[in-house]
Amino acid sequence: MKRMLSGIKPTGRVTLGNYIGAIKPFVSYQDEYEMIVFVANLHSMTIYQEPKELRKNTRDLIALYLAAGLDPEKVTLFLQSDVLEHAQLGWYLGCMVSMGELSRMTQYKDKASKLGKNESIGAGIFNYPSLMNADILLYDPDYVPVGEDQKQHCELARDIAERFNSRYSETFKLPEPLVPKVGGKIMDLQDPTKKMSKSEQTSKGCIYILDDIQVSKKKIMSAVTDSDNHIIYDPENKPGISNLLSIYSILSKKSIASLEEQYQGCGYGQFKKDLAEVVGQELQKIQDRYHEIIQGSYIDDVLKNGADHARYMARKKLAKVERKIGITIKK
Ligand code: TYM
Repeated sequence: MKRMLSGIKPTGRVTLGNYIGAIKPFVSYQDEYEMIVFVANLHSMTIYQEPKELRKNTRDLIALYLAAGLDPEKVTLFLQSDVLEHAQLGWYLGCMVSMGELSRMTQYKDKASKLGKNESIGAGIFNYPSLMNADILLYDPDYVPVGEDQKQHCELARDIAERFNSRYSETFKLPEPLVPKVGGKIMDLQDPTKKMSKSEQTSKGCIYILDDIQVSKKKIMSAVTDSDNHIIYDPENKPGISNLLSIYSILSKKSIASLEEQYQGCGYGQFKKDLAEVVGQELQKIQDRYHEIIQGSYIDDVLKNGADHARYMARKKLAKVERKIGITIKK
């Protein structure tokens, strides 16, 4: 069975973008692949997190993984901070990557370019891909399912794995990023040239999985579209309606072509109304299960079992790395 690994940061509330680009694909892969899914809470520290919020967001993310349908009997589900080997390997790999490589990461460049005059960027954001490389390489996954924005980080993991293997002999499997063809980059509903993101301050363009259902429907109804009223997929010239078509296609499991045909001659109003219903139903299903899961100690049990399993795998791999690089002195 091929192996897959991925994670999400518990910064802010989980968005429809995270759900479509990551969580929903994870659920669909769990029967076919050996899945390892974690909460990247060490990554969340790259920007200040109010401790109480971080605790809530972390529990919510685990509950949402489960509510969306990840089955802990099939998937290893854990908190990154419970497996210390991530940080340890992150250090070794960070020593094998250059400042130039890290400064070419578009996510870092984006964040750096948005800084105000008197702000400085945290070293954590700069170094973050090394930790992500460790998250991936510790477990030798064949594939890393991510949204479009994380593809470059996964490619760096591949480069670093190759570098390590050629310097110290074959150690890491070369992972492949897996980005969904539709839904790999869900755009902001108010500015469809920008990614829907949990770190944005304005929430009108971003649907959160735990949004009130009526609020989520209103966000769809007020999504920015052009004025020609034709429902056609053309991300370059019609980014707003194309984004809505992607969301509709993923949630309804209908192809974009069949949706274009279904809504031929219809105005945007009817299309948005139907989509708002589809989104509302999907969120309602998840929220009902979330409210059951978030009570009690189920989450803690799942995390304990997941961490035990992940730690077992990670320790073996790290021991191998430390023997190869000369850190272990026992013969
Ligand atoms: P994060 O927390 O920013 O996002 C989690 C996942 O959601 C995807 N995503 C989107 N997909 C489609 N449309 C969007 N608008 C959208 N916004 C986010 C992301 O691409 C990602 O797949 N560094 C990672 C977390 C991480 C990780 C890893 C992932 C840490 N270690 C190892 C894979 C493997 C991050 O910040 O994702």
